[in-house]
Amino acid sequence: MRIDILTLFPEMFEGVLGSSILGKASERGIVEYNVTNFRDYSESKHGTVDDTPYGGGGGMVLKPEPLFRAVEAVTTDAKPRVILMCPQGKPYQQKLAEELAQEEHLVFICGHYEGYDERIREHLVTDEISIGDYVLTGGELAAMVVIDSIVRLQPGALGNQISAVEDSFSTGLLEHPHYTRPAEFRGWKVPDILLSGHHANIVRWRLKESLRRTKARRPELLEQLEMNEDMKKLLLE
Ligand code: ADE
Repeated sequence: MRIDILTLFPEMFEGVLGSSILGKASERGIVEYNVTNFRDYSESKHGTVDDTPYGGGGGMVLKPEPLFRAVEAVTTDAKPRVILMCPQGKPYQQKLAEELAQEEHLVFICGHYEGYDERIREHLVTDEISIGDYVLTGGELAAMVVIDSIVRLQPGALGNQISAVEDSFSTGLLEHPHYTRPAEFRGWKVPDILLSGHHANIVRWRLKESLRRTKARRPELLEQLEMNEDMKKLLLE
C-alpha cells in the first residue's frame, strides 16, 4: 500500500511514521509513505497557498491550485482515494478503517486554515473524514490517527504476536479485561478462572466480560450486534 500525505508541516510526521509498528511496516515493505509539502506546488513565487474569502469575512481559505497540482503529481497509478481531514467529514470508525485498508493508494490532505476552497471538496476529494466532534489546529494529527488504524490492519504489520481480529470494534464488542503476573498484587487477585487452565471456561468468561463491559460503557454497540442465544444468556447471568 502507498500512502501520500499532503501537508504544510511535513516534519510533524517524522517520528510517527518512523517509529513502532508504522515504522516497521515501511521497513518490511508493507507500506510506503510519501510526505509532500504542498507549498512546493504553489503557482506563486512566494509559495502562497491561501487567500482571503470571496464575499468577505475573516480567516483564510486554501487555494485550489496547489492542492490539485500536488494530488496530480502523486497520482502515478489508477485513481487513488483522496481523503480530506476535516471536522465536517464522516465520523471515523473501524468499519471505514477496514475498508480503506483494502486500497492500494491513499492520499491524505491536511490543512491548517479556516477552510478549503469548495472546488477542492467537490472535484478533488473522494472522502472527507472527521476523527471526532472537536476541532484540532490542523488535519495532521487526525491523518496520523487514521493512518495508524489502517497500517496496523495490513497483513504482517502486527507481527505474529498480536492479531487485529480480536480487536475491540472488529468483534463489535469492547475487549475483555486482561491480566498478567503476579497472580496477586497488593491484595488484588487475578480471577481464579484465568489460572484454571480450563480453556473453554476461559473463552466463555472472556465473552461474558466483553458483553458486560460493552453493555455498561457502550450500550449502543450491543444494539447493532447480532447476538446468538448463548450470548443473550451470558448477558443475563
Ligand atoms: N481537522 C481539524 N479538526 C479535525 C477533526 N476533528 N477531524 C479531522 N480533521 C480535523
